Amino acid sequence: VATGLLARLPAALAPATPAFVVADENTLPLLPPALAHLPRHVLPPGEASKSWAELERLLLALDAAGLDRDSHLVAFGGGVVTDLAGLAASLHRRGIPWSAVPTSLVGQVDAACGGKTAIDFAGGKNTIGSFHPPRAVLVDPAALASLPGEHLRAGLAEVLKTALIAGGELYARTLELDLPALVRADARATAVIAGCLSVKDGLVRRDLHDHGPRRALNLGHTFGHALEALSLRTPGAGLLHGEAVALGLLCAARVAGTRRGVGAGLEHRLRDRLSAWGLGTTRSGLDPDAVLAEMRRDKKRRGGRLTLILPLAPGRVEVLEGLDDDVVRIGLGALTPGC
Ligand code: GLY
Repeated sequence: VATGLLARLPAALAPATPAFVVADENTLPLLPPALAHLPRHVLPPGEASKSWAELERLLLALDAAGLDRDSHLVAFGGGVVTDLAGLAASLHRRGIPWSAVPTSLVGQVDAACGGKTAIDFAGGKNTIGSFHPPRAVLVDPAALASLPGEHLRAGLAEVLKTALIAGGELYARTLELDLPALVRADARATAVIAGCLSVKDGLVRRDLHDHGPRRALNLGHTFGHALEALSLRTPGAGLLHGEAVALGLLCAARVAGTRRGVGAGLEHRLRDRLSAWGLGTTRSGLDPDAVLAEMRRDKKRRGGRLTLILPLAPGRVEVLEGLDDDVVRIGLGALTPGC
């Protein structure tokens, strides 16, 4: 993690020699000139690109470029680019090395790190994917200055999630973080981004395949993924991933309050922080049965019953398995306007 890292590409990727770049139409202008001569594939921006059709197009491009098993792919963009490019890298010739250069906040603190790759499939989020860790994740916080405001805000939800898991100094610093500090990529913002990455890296190193401690990173995601998937089916009402995670964090905090006796103060603090960043904290018109049906599709559901990650306090989360379906109604209560 360092400001000015983009200008030092491809030297910063050494000893890897990049052979192919995947970007999207929004991130292409940020591509350093030193990478511009490489063969590349440019995706339409947005979640819709995490599709079977785009995966096939990318695999055809890798094939046409003649990449062999040692060819190094660089994914240059947000979570959509790194998820799709990472999956293609895991499939081409049964797996080629790749590096991630995440340019969005969600990408920098979460999506690009940890080797989870995916597309959305059959209406579900991230339902097809693989574990194929990148050789390197190079983060330049200065890239965030080019990000639309709503994407920056959405990324803050993933920052808050990670800080809540970690507690301590990272949590305190995150509660003080504001959007201008991020846009300036000042020292405080850079420290928070580096802190989130280090928390995630620590969990992934212990549990790449998400059977143990890594599951903490799904905090806010059981509700979040369901709300995001539902929203994407209503034209014009689509939630960004981070916006859905923000709502999911509040749902998880509400369930923690009801089922684990956690004081309401935690949910209030999270709500205040998310609103101060300009993120939505309510959602009307949700049908609990539809949300439950989405959760049933969740690939992390095991043994037919729900699993939730619950925040007990900053630095303390609990994986609660085998929950009854009623928790859905309880959690969604946190999103009722005026609650
Ligand atoms: N985004 C959660 C994880 O990588 O495990």
